[in-house]
Amino acid sequence: MSPIVRLAPSLNRMTPRVIPAIVLLAALGSGCGGSSSQHSATERASELPDPQTYAATLDARERYWWQQPKRVVELLDCAPGMTVVDLGAGTGYFLPYLSSAVGPSGQVLALDVERAMVDMMVQRVRRDRLLNVSPGVVPPDDPALTPRSVDRVLVVNTWHHLNDRVAYAQKLLHALRPGGLVLIVDFDEESPKGPPVEMRLTPSTVVAELESAGFSAELLEESIPYQYAIAGRR
Ligand SMILES: C[S@@+](CC[C@H](N)C(=O)[O-])C[C@H]1O[C@@H](n2cnc3c(N)ncnc32)[C@H](O)[C@@H]1O
Repeated sequence: MSPIVRLAPSLNRMTPRVIPAIVLLAALGSGCGGSSSQHSATERASELPDPQTYAATLDARERYWWQQPKRVVELLDCAPGMTVVDLGAGTGYFLPYLSSAVGPSGQVLALDVERAMVDMMVQRVRRDRLLNVSPGVVPPDDPALTPRSVDRVLVVNTWHHLNDRVAYAQKLLHALRPGGLVLIVDFDEESPKGPPVEMRLTPSTVVAELESAGFSAELLEESIPYQYAIAGRR
């Protein structure tokens, strides 16, 4: 069964498994991924960098050393055959690493609220032949996933964009299979990268939000510059 039944009922019937953005949304995105111009979901419409500028920031070569995508994906603890969600996937920066981690028998759902981002992911998927990756547009308040259909959810530099985060976390909890894991990576208060300081969330806030939603959550010991990583387990 497709994990995205409500929005893309024919997802698994399409060949290749890459889908175009199926759902049109009015919500607009904001600057992100290491720029200091990030804004919350509620502020998106007012200060929108154009998608190419946004993409250039997310895909900047220098990001590799501080983002450490291989380390992040290691923390997600994937296994071949798993179904993994990249929530707020942007241009798909993490997709090659996730695709490789779950292998040909696994599936990666690359979800974003922005159609322009999803279009870029579709291009990346075609260019890099990431045949187990399916990009899709989702509403701002719902990952639109079938209950107990996914094993892992990665949320990088995106959690602070969500509005009602406890309600959102509950939806993620329902989407996870038993033993499932959500990994939230976001910017430290002291980081020279990231959104304005007043928008940053402390690790204890994120842990408390996940716990309120019903997760068992902990701050992971990790070595990613500028950022913390929090695991929420079902
Ligand atoms: C800072 S970017 C991070 C992109 C990607 N995770 C990365 O690290 O390269 C945040 C992304 O989250 C998306 N986003 C914001 N609010 C969202 C929501 N409610 N649901 C899904 N995606 C959202 C934005 O459109 C944007 O692409």
